[in-house]
Amino acid sequence: MTTLQLFYYIVLGICLQIALFSLVAMFHHIRSYRFLQKRMAGLDAEPAAEPVLQDIRRILPDALTGHAPLWKGLRTFKVVRKVFEDPAKLVCSFYLEATDGSPLPDYKPGQFLTFQLTVRDLASGGPKDIVRCYSLSDAPGNPYYRVSIKRTLPPPGKPDVPPGLSSNYFHDNVHIGNMLTVKAPSGHFFLEPGDSPVVLIAGGIGITPMLSMLNAIIKTASHREVWLFYGVRNSFDHAMKAHFEVLASVHSNFRLHVCYSDPRPEDKLGTDYQHKGRVDVALLRQTLSFQIHDFYICGPRPMMENLVPALEEWGVPDQHIRYESFGPASITRASRKAAPVADLSPSPQPQISVTFAKSGKTLAWDGRDDTLLDFAERHGIAVDSGCRAGGCGSCQTRIKSGEVAYIQAPDFDAEPGTCLMCVSRPKNNLTVEA
Ligand SMILES: Cc1cc2nc3c(=O)[nH]c(=O)nc-3n(C[C@H](O)[C@H](O)[C@H](O)COP(=O)(O)OP(=O)(O)OC[C@H]3O[C@@H](n4cnc5c(N)ncnc54)[C@H](O)[C@@H]3O)c2cc1C
Ligand code: FES
Repeated sequence: MTTLQLFYYIVLGICLQIALFSLVAMFHHIRSYRFLQKRMAGLDAEPAAEPVLQDIRRILPDALTGHAPLWKGLRTFKVVRKVFEDPAKLVCSFYLEATDGSPLPDYKPGQFLTFQLTVRDLASGGPKDIVRCYSLSDAPGNPYYRVSIKRTLPPPGKPDVPPGLSSNYFHDNVHIGNMLTVKAPSGHFFLEPGDSPVVLIAGGIGITPMLSMLNAIIKTASHREVWLFYGVRNSFDHAMKAHFEVLASVHSNFRLHVCYSDPRPEDKLGTDYQHKGRVDVALLRQTLSFQIHDFYICGPRPMMENLVPALEEWGVPDQHIRYESFGPASITRASRKAAPVADLSPSPQPQISVTFAKSGKTLAWDGRDDTLLDFAERHGIAVDSGCRAGGCGSCQTRIKSGEVAYIQAPDFDAEPGTCLMCVSRPKNNLTVEA
C-alpha cells in the first residue's frame, strides 16, 4: 500500500467517525427534545424508542434508513407463490414481489393493497377493467407482500347470482409468474402501536387484517397481550389453522378463541375450536378480564352490525373500537349519533336534486339509496367503482356545485372539490361531473 493510499484510508476513517458521531448526537438531541416536550405536556415519562426512530427516519433521506417511500400510481408485481389456506380451498394466499427490484415500503398492519385488473365481463364476454382492495395478510418487513383472497361463490340455492369477478379471477387466472398492477398500501384501519391489550375479532375472510396485526406483534417479540376471536362455520373453512395453533402454543401472550357456528361431526370442541356459536359480546364478557382493551373488528356485515353497538353498550369507549368492513357497511354507533338528521337521514327529501352533468340528468334525491353511487346506478348512470367502501378512490367524482355528507369516514383521501360517491349522500342541491 502506498503512502497516498494510507492517507486516503485515514481520511475516510475520520469522515466515517464524524458521520457516526453526528448521527448519535442527533439521536440524543431528538430524544431530549421529545422528553422535554412530554414533560411540558405533563407526561413525566421516558420517551419510547419507536417515535425517536420515526423522527430519525423523517430527517434522514430514505436511502440512508432503508425506509422505502410509498409509490404513486400503479406498480407492477410478480406472483411468486400461491398457497391455499383452508381445507375447502376457498382462501388462497398470493405472495407478490416488485418487478423493479427496489425495496418495498413498510405498511401498517391492517392496511390493504388496491389492484387494477382486467377480467372477462360475464355479460358481454369482453374485457372489463375493475378495481378491488385486499388486505395485506402478513406482518410488514418481509421482502414480499401477501394477500389472502376468498373465492366469492353464489349464495346457496341461488345459482343465478353471478360469481365474484375479481376473487374468481385471482383463483382461476392468476398463477406464479403472472404480473399484477397494484396501488401502494393504504387504509386507516391498522394496529395502533403501544402495549395495551389487543382483542382481534374476525369473521370469515375478515381474518386477513387480523393476521397481519397478530404476526406483527409476534414478530417484534413484544409481550403485548393479544386475543384472537375467529368465527368460521367449521374446520372446512378454518383458514391458517396450523399457523394460529403453533403461535398460541409458543407465545403465552397470545390467546386463541375459535368459534364454529356449524361444527362437523368430526370437529373436536377444545381441540379444533374453543366455542360453539358465533363471536358475540356475551362470549367476550365471559372471556376477557376487566381492563381496557383495544378492539379491532372485521367480518361480515351482520357480525359488525351486532358487535360494534354491543361493545359500546358494554361500556367500551369509542376510541377503543376500530373496525373495517370489506364492502358497503354503515354501522350505527351510539357515540356518533350526532350527525345532523338532514345530512344522513334516508327519509324522502324531495327538495334535494342531483344533477349528473355528463349524463345530462337531473333527478330528485328520494332517500331510497344508501349512497350517491347506488342512486346513480339505479338511474343507469355509469360511475367507476371498486371497493364501494371509501377505500380505493375509484368512484371519486368532481363536484360542480353543492355539498355532500359522508356516511362513514373514507380511507381514501379524496382531492378537494371531489367526493367519493360510494360513501356519500347529497347535503343540498348537488351537481357532479358523472
Ligand atoms: C379494504 C378492503 C379489504 C379487503 N380485503 C379482502 C381480503 O383480504 N380478502 C378477500 O377475500 N376480500 C377482501 N376484500 C373484499 C374484496 O375487495 C372484494 O370485494 C371481494 O373479493 C369480492 O369481489 P369480487 O369481484 O370477487 O365480487 P363482485 O363481482 O364484486 O361481486 C360481489 C358479490 O356480489 C354478487 N353479485 C355479483 N353480481 C350480482 C348480481 N347481478 N346480483 C346479485 N349479486 C351479484 C357476487 O356473487 C358476490 O357475492 C376487501 C375489501 C375491502 C374494501
Ligand atoms: S368505490 Fe372505492 S372509494 Fe368508492
